[in-house]
Amino acid sequence: MDTKRYAVFGHPVKHSLSPFIHREFARQFGLSLSYEAIDATPEGFAAALDTFAAAGGVGANVTLPHKQAAYGLCARLSARAQRAGAVNTLTRIPEGWEGDNTDGAGLVRDLTERRRLDLRGRSVLLLGAGGAARGIVPALLDAGVLRLVVVNRTPVKADELCDRLGEPDRATSRYWEDMRELGDFELIVNATSAGRDGQALDLPLSLVNSLTTAVDLSYGEVAIPFLAWARAAGCRLAVDGLGMLVEQAALSFAHWHGKRPDTEPVYQALRERDVALATGD
Ligand code: ATR
Repeated sequence: MDTKRYAVFGHPVKHSLSPFIHREFARQFGLSLSYEAIDATPEGFAAALDTFAAAGGVGANVTLPHKQAAYGLCARLSARAQRAGAVNTLTRIPEGWEGDNTDGAGLVRDLTERRRLDLRGRSVLLLGAGGAARGIVPALLDAGVLRLVVVNRTPVKADELCDRLGEPDRATSRYWEDMRELGDFELIVNATSAGRDGQALDLPLSLVNSLTTAVDLSYGEVAIPFLAWARAAGCRLAVDGLGMLVEQAALSFAHWHGKRPDTEPVYQALRERDVALATGD
């Protein structure tokens, strides 16, 4: 039997946890598969995908900075990838690649199942309007949030993100400078890349109440500044993106293999490897 080839494409990608996660999932079912990390520059991404397909690649995850480029390369798109305008899961089909986005559903699953949060009727503040933010907003709306406020350093990108969602009653953009006037939120999501540059965000304490959950979509060192702010600001829960990472991988895995893996042992193994930091819960 041929071993099927899968990969994660990113830049950089050396430290990606996806190969470990997918191999662990495969082990749960005794599946034989190959899953590698492929570094592709933005200029070389399309060619690298072609090479992978020619060598028998049947599925791929896409991480920074290629999620929007992947969207543009797909012959077919799932509804949620279309709404997000970004793709994190590629599946080979006769016409080329089919694109899906499991990031948002992965985040919602981490928050609702692992953290036992009820998102219905909640007020959510989204910081950032880049690729990571785009990937998660459709799922947050689908989870029943009452109000989604998007703030971005460059305001026009927050406007575009909200226009794309087409739900003006629920999803609105506001200026970063006006954050002090927004009141408090039950969920604050950091989807900016500031932590990747070692930068802390200047956020007002008025965003937080005693029930606020703060979540950073990244994990490890990158998530430190935002999670430190969240704890200092008195958030009830400060969560990094490790759970979302494992859940989005499980959804990709289920899409490719038709089997739903058990995420908990893989999540715990990653925590124990001290890949990420304590979550504050
Ligand atoms: P990603 O794929 O991780 O979302 P991206 O598409 O480059 O990466 O988007 C990065 C996001 O982080 C953007 O929303 C960016 O704001 P701008 O649109 O104004 O560039 C935001 N960001 C990065 N550094 C930031 C900082 N120091 N303060 C506030 N926002 C920042």
